[in-house]
Amino acid sequence: MTSATSEKTRRLGAAPEPALLDPAERMGVDELRALQLERLQWTLRHAYDNVPHYRAAFDAAGVHPDDCRELADLARFPTTAKADLRENYPFGMFAVPQDEVRRVHASSGTTGRPTVVGYTERDIATWATVMARSIRAAGGRAGDKLHNAYGYGLFTGGLGAHYGAEALGCTVIPVSGGMTPRQVQLITDFEPRVIMVTPSYMLTVIDEFEKQGLDPRASSLQIGIFGAEPWTEQMRTEMEERLDIEAVDIYGLSEVMGPGIAQECVETKDGLHIWEDHFLPEVIDPATGEVLPEGEQGELVLTSLTKEALPIIRYRTRDLTRLLPGTARPAMRRMEKVTGRTDDMIILRGVNLFPTQIEEVVLRTPGLSPHFSLELTSRGRMDHLTVHVEARPDCAAQRRDVAAREVEKAVKDTVGTSVEVRVVDPETLARSVGKLQRLTDHRDR
Ligand code: DLL
Repeated sequence: MTSATSEKTRRLGAAPEPALLDPAERMGVDELRALQLERLQWTLRHAYDNVPHYRAAFDAAGVHPDDCRELADLARFPTTAKADLRENYPFGMFAVPQDEVRRVHASSGTTGRPTVVGYTERDIATWATVMARSIRAAGGRAGDKLHNAYGYGLFTGGLGAHYGAEALGCTVIPVSGGMTPRQVQLITDFEPRVIMVTPSYMLTVIDEFEKQGLDPRASSLQIGIFGAEPWTEQMRTEMEERLDIEAVDIYGLSEVMGPGIAQECVETKDGLHIWEDHFLPEVIDPATGEVLPEGEQGELVLTSLTKEALPIIRYRTRDLTRLLPGTARPAMRRMEKVTGRTDDMIILRGVNLFPTQIEEVVLRTPGLSPHFSLELTSRGRMDHLTVHVEARPDCAAQRRDVAAREVEKAVKDTVGTSVEVRVVDPETLARSVGKLQRLTDHRDR
């Protein structure tokens, strides 16, 4: 493989001109903290006065919005979970009359009721502002053509990215996910500079380029903004090399707004800056709920600071990360790339394992493609994990077995548990058009 940075992407390493940044991105820490406190006090009051769930939850915890005199006081307020949104389905968490709600989105809801979220006109404008900021931090600029392959519809990815790209001044190509050959045709013919898509679907599109006999590195793409699912540094290298782009991470979740809560800056690629003028982060111990000091790993908890239709107080994201000091945007803290969700964790014979740990090992093993799936089964009273991974098209038959044993050994050495690896033919595992479901659970219970 050739080097990741070529003529096409080298000039992207520079930070944006300060004049391009939003005023909040240029604030000093004290100014930002003062703004956050003022907005937090407004949010707590707005939630307490207008959402029966918050009034009851604050009362039960013996706290009142007036008790918040400094940012650290937030820790005294109760957390909010997905179950709270489900119990108030569909619109019970909304804090404004229905005629002020301009749009709703909803989570896919694989089990039970979907989680419904709403936006006022101002919320949609705020969202567009933070998304535009994210695209700019990724290296996108007004005038760029942007291929948006996040799904349009109730999912927040498509429309969230769309409004942000328009606000930045891009030409949006609203493709949505699916119809992979057409994705390749549109990238080839329309020559976008930026692509927004889940990393797993990006891989599928790269494969399609190669199937059509086209060189993905020769495409017009220079920047990929990838999120909605976890992906590793190894995956970044894979995509940057095969597509000759800069690949950066975008984070968000519908309950808190959608994409654009945190974004990696292309000039540093060192984790995601949280847009702290709109979202206040905490990291807690998922077992005890205790707030952890900066730098320690735990569950990310987010509070909205400006949202009108659906103020969200201390939302438990279930995403595991740590908070780090700001770099490219000095006053805004970063979150480390999300390694997994508390509910994606596989406990295999007492050892915790995340699909991203398998991804790291698979991608550094020669001969293996990034396409893999995980299957949990029962062997007697024991749980058994099988990793099905596709060989790369040029992987020799005798290499496959060796590669499988290498992955088994590396997982044993790094994670500390045994898994079974089966290398299968290229193009035999299911592909995603949006978020990829890697794990199937066939255990007997
Ligand atoms: O996935 C919003 C989004 C769309 C983010 C497009 C980025 C790009 P939900 O469907 O509500 O919203 O899913 C949110 O997806 O709690 C994480 O577990 C996961 N997730 C989102 N971004 C990342 C990321 C959208 N960059 C859930 N890395 C979150 C790891 C991510 N996981």
